[in-house]
Amino acid sequence: MAKINDNFLKLPGSYLFSTVAKKTRAYMEAHPDKKVIKMSIGDVTRPIVPAVTEAMHKAVDEMATAKGFHGYGPEQGYDFLRSKIVEKDYKARGINIAADEVFVSDGAKSDCGNIGDIFSTDNKVAVCDPVYPVYVDTNAMAGRAGDFKGERWTNLVYMPCLEENGFLPEIPKEKVDIIYLCFPNNPIGVAATKEQLKPWVDYARENGAVILYDSAYEAFISDTAVPHSIYEIEGAKECAVEFRSFSKTAGFTGTRCAYTVMPHELKIDGTELNALWNRRQCTKFNGVPYVIQKAAEAVYSEEGYKQTRESIAYYLENARIIREGLAKAGFAVYGGVNAPYIWTKTPDGLGSWEFFDKLLKNAQVVTTPGAGFGPSGEGYIRLTSFNTREATKEAIDRIQKLV
Ligand code: MLT
Repeated sequence: MAKINDNFLKLPGSYLFSTVAKKTRAYMEAHPDKKVIKMSIGDVTRPIVPAVTEAMHKAVDEMATAKGFHGYGPEQGYDFLRSKIVEKDYKARGINIAADEVFVSDGAKSDCGNIGDIFSTDNKVAVCDPVYPVYVDTNAMAGRAGDFKGERWTNLVYMPCLEENGFLPEIPKEKVDIIYLCFPNNPIGVAATKEQLKPWVDYARENGAVILYDSAYEAFISDTAVPHSIYEIEGAKECAVEFRSFSKTAGFTGTRCAYTVMPHELKIDGTELNALWNRRQCTKFNGVPYVIQKAAEAVYSEEGYKQTRESIAYYLENARIIREGLAKAGFAVYGGVNAPYIWTKTPDGLGSWEFFDKLLKNAQVVTTPGAGFGPSGEGYIRLTSFNTREATKEAIDRIQKLV
């Protein structure tokens, strides 16, 4: 008789954003006359910029010719994109990354989840709390998280990110093997400086640990003290994997393109993780479509860069409107300066889901309850700056009126 992976049965409820979407749908069906504004999942609203869509069109036309047709591409990504990434995202910042250390993929979410394939289930995993739920759920699916008891997984080490510690994690007291870090952070929206990241790199090197560094929001960094890559920290190539994405940077949430960096220096017991990841990708993944990789390449062109920066500036201005608008209404507000997310305390000691419901029912604004990101997120909600300017202003106006 076939057996299921019963780790799946240990997972509580559904994936956070599915639960939020389900609640929102139910409300909208019951109140078709109400105009609901979604400030929940970090999905972009601005169209892909012209320089990028032009490159896509051109690639589509190529595909219609015998000479320009592309079938299966390299599982690791086409050289034209890998070398652009190396040149523009790393070399330009003084970081030496080789093209064969870059693996193009269909999303940082997939990579953050799939990375577990190359690690033993015996590893002790540390996650921030609150945290992007993908890191936790995928470790639970793999059987690395133990059991879910009292809002926590028994085998995970939680690193609380609280008001008292500036929402930055502290190095765990017990020894850990794999550490997930995300800066600029999802969900809190805070960023870490080089000085704040260095102790993590030192810890990982001293203890043979691996840092899984999610840098999907680096394009939103506006503070020069904040590094865009973990590899700006000396020694990080020996101990860190970096995940990057075109989703929020260039409006690719529906188009799907991202990449993961696996430096050759990163070894466990003499085995390069690069070789294992390459083996995993070649077996389970057939590469990102040519047309999409051509679009991603165009993000780095002069026009593509200029135009995508305009979209990022637009979202950062939305973030400012949210931050200032909520602060004016008396909320304690965090994040949103180097990141598209704003983290805010619920009023009157309301629980996260309670305040989520109140905002949905009384202001028709959809947020994400902080508790959905982990126990330390209780008492907070997260808002995204990815909606339109008009909707963002309207949402803040409604929240101000409500409170
Ligand atoms: C979020 O809202 O946290 C992100 O959009 C989720 C994701 O990128 O998968």
